[in-house]
Amino acid sequence: MILQKPSITEDDIRAVGEALKTGWLGTGEITRKFEQAVLPYTGHSHCAATSSCSAAIEVALRITDVKDKEVITSPNTFCATVNAIIRAGGIPRFVDITEDGLMDAALLESSITARTRVVMPVHFAGKVVDLSAIKCLKELSIIEDCAHTLGANLPESDNIRCFSFYPTKPVTTIDGGLISCNDSEFIEKARILTQQGVNNNAWERKNGTKISSVLEVGMKANMPNVNASLGLSQLARFDAMQKRRREIFRILDGRFERAWHKEGDSCHLYCFLTDKRDLLLNELSTREIITGIHYLPVHLQPAYQYLGYKRGDFPMAEKWGNTELTLPTNPEMTDEDVRFIIDSVKEIIHG
Ligand SMILES: Cc1ncc(COP(=O)(O)O)c(C=O)c1O
Repeated sequence: MILQKPSITEDDIRAVGEALKTGWLGTGEITRKFEQAVLPYTGHSHCAATSSCSAAIEVALRITDVKDKEVITSPNTFCATVNAIIRAGGIPRFVDITEDGLMDAALLESSITARTRVVMPVHFAGKVVDLSAIKCLKELSIIEDCAHTLGANLPESDNIRCFSFYPTKPVTTIDGGLISCNDSEFIEKARILTQQGVNNNAWERKNGTKISSVLEVGMKANMPNVNASLGLSQLARFDAMQKRRREIFRILDGRFERAWHKEGDSCHLYCFLTDKRDLLLNELSTREIITGIHYLPVHLQPAYQYLGYKRGDFPMAEKWGNTELTLPTNPEMTDEDVRFIIDSVKEIIHG
């Protein structure tokens, strides 16, 4: 059992085959259909598909203009969050996490400086960070890292959200992402940035005006039709897959006598902390149960040492880095598979 096995059906394969046969492989009509199908899950009225969540975050930050400004995020995240901030010209800043692995909203106020431009909560493991009670954020933009969050109960909001459709995510386009918000102009700017800064893409030129202008130095970060066709096919059974994910999380919670799963979570990662983490990681793999670590705290990674953080700065994130283990939770797992995982964990812990 691998950590996050993509679910690929005959329907998915057929959908990709049909997209290939259209002869228009790049961004086009299927990409737009995919955007419309994802939109209800975003809590927003507008969205643009991208080549990855990393690209979506970078695009959102470039439009918000974070050059030489601080972006506050969680140290318990994938390096993609931090790399996107740096590529957009921003300065990553961190606040510690709470016991459930999420950015500690109570620490935000004391971390905001005159240089802070954006707060970027990471809805880690599919649990939504609630910033609604934090008053000091008024002057700042909030860009939510929703890489784990498709299917979570996301409230309506004027924030910006960035999603991922990487193969480990519950809906995949192989690589892919999406940026959403309620501001149609922001989304229009995002589209332009993802297509090299050109004001219309090849599909629009094929179907309409042939003249285009390069409005800014953009990125190559659009989502092609073929990728979108896989995501569109997967979305058709997404609700059923989510139902099964919730059942698996409930079985795990019941057997571990804990409450990791909460109503409204997207149930992306099943995490727990244990001082036998490294033993479990190795022993479970000999039983072909492949687990993961989310995350080794980013503030201690060699690439970011220039930011000046050191061990001890974020004790809870460091505790997660030393003791967290993520169990496999694929919708295709049977109840028996789930019980095998639980029994194996208990046997290894209790010797
Ligand atoms: C929290 C987080 N943010 C951002 C990303 C980047 O997503 P992508 O691979 O679509 O660029 C990931 C990827 O797994 C992630 O886990």
